Amino acid sequence: MALQLRIYVPPHPLIKHWLAVARDHGTPPVLFRAAMKELGRWLTYEAVRDWLPTVDTTVQTPLGDCEATFVNPEVPMAAVPILRAGLALWEGAQELLPLASVYHLGLVRDEQTLTPHCYLNKLPPQFAPQTQVLVLDPMVATGGSLLAALAELVQRGVDPALIRVIAVVAAPPALQALSTAYPALTLYSAMIDTGLNAQGYILPGLGDAGDRAFGTL
Ligand code: PRP
Ligand code: URA
Repeated sequence: MALQLRIYVPPHPLIKHWLAVARDHGTPPVLFRAAMKELGRWLTYEAVRDWLPTVDTTVQTPLGDCEATFVNPEVPMAAVPILRAGLALWEGAQELLPLASVYHLGLVRDEQTLTPHCYLNKLPPQFAPQTQVLVLDPMVATGGSLLAALAELVQRGVDPALIRVIAVVAAPPALQALSTAYPALTLYSAMIDTGLNAQGYILPGLGDAGDRAFGTL
């Protein structure tokens, strides 16, 4: 059976709440960052429930032996926040994945062509086999930035089937492009919006996530 991009929009009231806060144009940067942090936390919580590797063992409680399950620290785990806005999502996600190695990728869209330009790449030359990678980018508009990030990961040995993407708002053109290029990918998003405006902004979206998070509007 052919692989198909898996898209999850978790029906969680906290995710809806923090998305509403982030969408509101009156939300100031400090609260916008808090909303992104909460969205990063809860979306990651949903995304790792069947993804975090575990190991079964036993522990001794004060009263006796007990079967126990730990997160397996042997399986390599990486997080790739796409700067700038992905940093705000990682703030929340990192509390759930304290063992992950963090590789920053700085991408910025050209406002005219909408193509991404890479200004910082802290990815390793090669990832260890079977590395699981969480990519964080709140806005998936044309998909250009995410596609550029995924190409860098795959070139360095990451299996697309082991990648989970955390987004806040995704748009149909990006999902179409991702589905064609990376059918084995899995994406978690707080919402799928309707489309893009002429400037490549998601509608209704939440505006420029990086500028709103860092107060640079
Ligand atoms: C925004 C956003 C995504 C990208 C999405 O970044 O954070 O990375 O745009 O657009 P795309 O799907 O059309 O590529 P931006 O380039 O504005 O940089 P910033 O995060 O530093 O503000
Ligand atoms: N980048 C953003 O920050 N917002 C959008 O709506 C699209 C791309």
